[in-house]
Amino acid sequence: MCGIVGYVGDEQAAPILLDGLRRLEYRGYDSAGVAVHDDGRIELVRAVGKLRNLEKALTENPLTGTVGVGHTRWATHGRPSEINAHPHIAGPIAVVHNGIIENHLELRQELEADGFGMSSDTDTEIVAHLVHRETKAGRDLLDAVRRALAQVEGTYAIAVLSTEQVDRVIVAKNASPLVIGVSREAMYCASDIPALLPYTDEMLFLEDDEIAVLEATRFSLSTLEGAPVERETQRISWSPVMAEKAGYKHFMLKEIFEQPRALEDTLRGRLDRESADVNALEIGLTDEDAKKIERVVLLACGTSHHATVAGRYWIEELTGLQAIAELASEFRGRDAVIGEGDLVIAVSQSGETIDTLMAAREAKQKGAKVLAIANVIGSAIPRMADASFYTHAGPEIGVASTKCFMAQLANLLMFSIWLGRRRGAVDDAQATEIVEGLARVPHLIEERLQSTHESIKDLMRTFADAHDVLFLGRGLSFPMALEGALKLKEISYVHAEGYAAGEMKHGPIALLDAHVPVIVLLPRDRHYDRSLSNLQEARAREAKIIAITVEGDSQAQALCDAFVEIAPTHEALTPFVSVVPLQLYAYCVADHKGTDVDQPRNLAKTVTVE
Ligand code: G6P
Repeated sequence: MCGIVGYVGDEQAAPILLDGLRRLEYRGYDSAGVAVHDDGRIELVRAVGKLRNLEKALTENPLTGTVGVGHTRWATHGRPSEINAHPHIAGPIAVVHNGIIENHLELRQELEADGFGMSSDTDTEIVAHLVHRETKAGRDLLDAVRRALAQVEGTYAIAVLSTEQVDRVIVAKNASPLVIGVSREAMYCASDIPALLPYTDEMLFLEDDEIAVLEATRFSLSTLEGAPVERETQRISWSPVMAEKAGYKHFMLKEIFEQPRALEDTLRGRLDRESADVNALEIGLTDEDAKKIERVVLLACGTSHHATVAGRYWIEELTGLQAIAELASEFRGRDAVIGEGDLVIAVSQSGETIDTLMAAREAKQKGAKVLAIANVIGSAIPRMADASFYTHAGPEIGVASTKCFMAQLANLLMFSIWLGRRRGAVDDAQATEIVEGLARVPHLIEERLQSTHESIKDLMRTFADAHDVLFLGRGLSFPMALEGALKLKEISYVHAEGYAAGEMKHGPIALLDAHVPVIVLLPRDRHYDRSLSNLQEARAREAKIIAITVEGDSQAQALCDAFVEIAPTHEALTPFVSVVPLQLYAYCVADHKGTDVDQPRNLAKTVTVE
């Protein structure tokens, strides 16, 4: 996630901006930059990679001036490069931005037709040109920013400088965070509290659709429509480490709670609710390409593999094509049969996992088309692929993947709908139900997160000392059972198995006794009755049953030692809601045991060895 800082005061801005950016490093970034007012001009320094590169560039090219903005960029539109790094300049205007401008393609065309030349591939540069167009029409900076933002759809936190009004920074927000730091001698702004803690503890959190003018000794706040807003500042007493995690004990918990947002950002601009379809222009596959596909092969490792198992079920159901989900490490070195007519979907959070990269490369060499689903723009797998469909979960810091898994599910389901529509395999009614349902999923997750966390914290105590845990699911709940077991193993070091519920009688049943908790996924889908029978079989062996049930399912709840309720959804959407309690269960057990949740022993976030 991008990070923004801004400073207006009487000290040199560049060192303060750089220090603020350092304190935002935990948000993840691939490039950075600062812009400072210097003698009537805006001077800009940007660099790809770590902040030390920016620091070096600033030593070679020092910026002097007491008003400026800085940015760490996590690429969402346009690969990491100096040209795409922020700040973006248009005429007298410089802009830094965190968020996604949904209608950027449309606005880009319009601005280009108006003679505004673009120098980057970003959605942010559009905002700089929109503000410039308004100032050219004679408007002052505040009015120009207001009018520019009225044309923008999507999410943003922005900070804007202009050489025409050099004593101020304008900030505004919609959905993305922005906090103003207030001191006697200077005003600050940042995406997050830690950047400001060394300078002031007096802060004001900008609300959506608010805009503020920061000057050295004062600030003014109003709505985007122009109504003045009065709000008291708050005193923040957080330690810097607490602040990085936004008050959560671990990054993993923060990321679990970020899932509604990760999902919203990933769905943004892609779900076409009007025609019950998916807008996949960015993928660059034509309707003709869609019709030529004969089979889909999904390649991934770890948690991403579990997303692809769900993807396989969606593709078969919604496109009528055969689909297989292969472990990338097993695909390699066995002379797998693959070639023209096959579409390979390589799924990877990091985009760098060596087994996934090499497997996809082998498939490409044998004639298959490769589509990458990755979270890191410009990473190795999208670079080698024929096409990419990025997840927009923002950087994930906890080693155990949560929000990126959620976003991968979203992209796989969206791609299945897109393909199914092109191939005439999904009718309007079915597509409408799924598209409408998917648009509501972030809200369904959000409204239960807190209460699910509380109830799992409670119920987990009874089962936390178990040495073995079995997770069971059928259909789309099977990959969620795999994922629930993997999460528990990874972070709490408890032996856990994810099993297809129907397979329990072929092995795991022999392990069951009163000491083995069995977590059964029981959404109200076509598999419900059979899964309920499996639950009874486990119960008959005295296993302790924890069921993930749809709210109000008293029939199943009566058969359990404990249960967690999930929201009712269309059956295709159950993975999104049922994986959340499993993530929280693993987290609560690990936290109870006091393990290193964010950096579990022996595991790495990105695995670049075979
Ligand atoms: C490692 C990580 C997992 C991840 C897997 C695949 O094992 O710890 O969280 O699922 O790699 O990574 P990828 O970046 O390809 O999704």
